[in-house]
Amino acid sequence: IFNQGNTPDREGLIVANASTLTDGTSVQHGIPVVGASFAQGEALAQPGSTAFVDVLEPETRIDYNVIAEKPGKNDDNVVMAGAHLDSVTEGPGINDNGSGSAALIELAQKMSKVRNVNTLRFAWWAAEEQGLVGSESYVANLPQEERDRIASYVNFDMIGSPNFIYGVYDADESSFPAPAGVPIPDGSAALEDLFEIFFTWQGIPYEDSEFSGRSDYQAFIFNGIPASGLFTGAEVPKTDEQEAIWEGVAGESYDPCYHQACDSLTPVADGADADVYAELGAENDLEGNVSLEALGVNSDAIAFTVLTLAYSTEDVNG
Ligand code: PHE
Ligand code: ZN
Ligand code: ZN
Ligand code: ZN
Repeated sequence: IFNQGNTPDREGLIVANASTLTDGTSVQHGIPVVGASFAQGEALAQPGSTAFVDVLEPETRIDYNVIAEKPGKNDDNVVMAGAHLDSVTEGPGINDNGSGSAALIELAQKMSKVRNVNTLRFAWWAAEEQGLVGSESYVANLPQEERDRIASYVNFDMIGSPNFIYGVYDADESSFPAPAGVPIPDGSAALEDLFEIFFTWQGIPYEDSEFSGRSDYQAFIFNGIPASGLFTGAEVPKTDEQEAIWEGVAGESYDPCYHQACDSLTPVADGADADVYAELGAENDLEGNVSLEALGVNSDAIAFTVLTLAYSTEDVNG
């Protein structure tokens, strides 16, 4: 999801402060206006202004989270891992979030061979892009004693960005603004450490990435459940310093097809810049809009972390 701020600044963003449109419909705070351009969004932000936008017919759909569990001897210390299975309507979502979903099914299959001590639970979330709907409703509908059984949650949303960096959600509240005054649960830093131990062991550089509530871990940290996760970057451009560390193309988004039709298996045919993809492909082993190099490294980091937690969460929960 995009940050749902008060200023319309991006295509497809939730438009706030908007007034009556030329076709007579009115747009209220919190209603997504699909097809509104940057300029239209700016115009709509001016009091009394009008702009042409396509407002989709409201529709109601039922959607489902997919949850799978492998019981362990110790059944009151559940280790959870999750990824959202939906995409935006603009495109199929190969990196956002086929990457996280695929890593998670691979992990679940490999874990079938492990004698886990702690119960493992895998979640493929519905409707993340509509505002974290699936994960929020899951956590909201758990009785408190069920929430108390969850030892940890790790999240994977965009882990194979074509122009990747290796990011680990940063549990240090001083480096990224935490979502709305909610303290980051104790134990989150120990989960972050597990991922970082993996990268250090492999000699692969990583950096802290935003832990701002912009993905499905939000409902977990709001309910005091330790959480962490991996992220290879979305719409923000890569810096020169990051290019020096991970190669790729400075000045280009980590994912040049973020939330677009070209987040697909054929990004160039779907409209991505051919030169950029040629350069990224030569360096990063692209398969459509996903770096197999980044997806492979992150899948190993996930396996290392969840396998460790399958045996013990002592460092996380004391
Ligand atoms: N949740 C965002 C999306 O699906 C991606 C994202 C993940 C952005 C983590 C920032 C941090 O569009
Ligand atoms: Zn998204
Ligand atoms: Zn996503
Ligand atoms: Zn860190």
